[in-house]
Amino acid sequence: MSDEVITRPPVIILLGPPGAGKGTQARMLEEAFGLVQLSTGDLLRAAVAAGTHAGLAAKAVMEAGGLVSDAIVLDILADRMAAEDVSAGVILDGFPRTAAQAEALDRLLAERGQKVDTAISLEVEDEAMVDRIAGRFTCAECGEGYHDTHKQPARAGACDKCGGTAFKRRADDKAETVRERLKAYHAQTAPLIAYYEGKGVQDRVDAMASIAEVRSALRTIVSRVSD
Ligand code: AP5
Repeated sequence: MSDEVITRPPVIILLGPPGAGKGTQARMLEEAFGLVQLSTGDLLRAAVAAGTHAGLAAKAVMEAGGLVSDAIVLDILADRMAAEDVSAGVILDGFPRTAAQAEALDRLLAERGQKVDTAISLEVEDEAMVDRIAGRFTCAECGEGYHDTHKQPARAGACDKCGGTAFKRRADDKAETVRERLKAYHAQTAPLIAYYEGKGVQDRVDAMASIAEVRSALRTIVSRVSD
């Protein structure tokens, strides 16, 4: 945990297994702090939908619950980081996921005179994640996330944010795929907690708490590093 006062655009990492709440919380932090959410999952799904070369290579791996190759993910991430809107600071959601990605991120940030300000681990129990993911759906119009029991739209059948009435569920949200995604998390991503601890930028949040409680804990951390 660092108390350094930052004058460059903050770089916040949300680490956590599938269903931990990275996307839900990243969108809230984006609105609260004027940062940009960069989700490699969203970028990869867009590439799959667009039928790009990277998307075609990623599709089967994602459907099986494995990790897409570092080369593809790093290309997509570097492209996105080159856009003008990220100059205000970023929340990295689902990236990095391997040691090679973490090291590549350090190099990319160093070239820009930036560094990771906090890597926040959302700590949850595996068993609860299958329920969270199986109940998840999003607005087909604006992407706002919901859950069958934990976060329903205020008016049934209409998105709170844009009023859209069409909703969708992800292709990789089946129970057996979620278990593969959890395995990939523990084998390849969880070791990054020690990597960021070694750099003195690791924070932890109990993400079994309610969405509002997790948000409050995250706001405290992000306020500290964005001041
Ligand atoms: P990605 O899209 O990143 O998925 P993920 O990491 O598996 O995470 P999820 O999006 O499933 O969960 P989340 O933590 O965002 O939870 P959410 O907020 O939605 O990656 C998908 C795939 O792409 C990967 O499997 C891989 O193949 C590939 N990929 C992506 N990045 C990669 C990379 N860097 N390298 C290689 N491959 C990569 O919440 C879940 C549900 O729970 C929601 O319904 C929500 O409302 C609810 N909820 C949230 N918080 C709470 C709470 N506190 N209490 C109760 N309910 C809650």
